[in-house]
Amino acid sequence: MGKAAFRVSVEGSDKVITCLADETLLKAMARQGISNIPVGCRNGGCGVCKIRVTKGEYETGKMSIKHVTQVERDDGYALACKAFPKSDLTVTVKNEE
Ligand code: FES
Repeated sequence: MGKAAFRVSVEGSDKVITCLADETLLKAMARQGISNIPVGCRNGGCGVCKIRVTKGEYETGKMSIKHVTQVERDDGYALACKAFPKSDLTVTVKNEE
């Protein structure tokens, strides 16, 4: 049996990638050639991998308030290295906005 996988549309690229339920969005994006996502510490510490989820359900691990404020969280911002998909998603890379 395969693991659950979701489709992730990345705005600003014409790509739709696949992200496994237990894979971070950052890992999935990097693995599938999304080149405009900055990859830093991969552990929530540096804040460079910020994205905004504009459609769909997701969950995140612990994120520092220093990198994603509560207001931003309410607005769909997250660190890609700490975010896991719960449904198909549409995301925007923060530094492309
Ligand atoms: S890569 Fe550093 S916070 Fe995501």
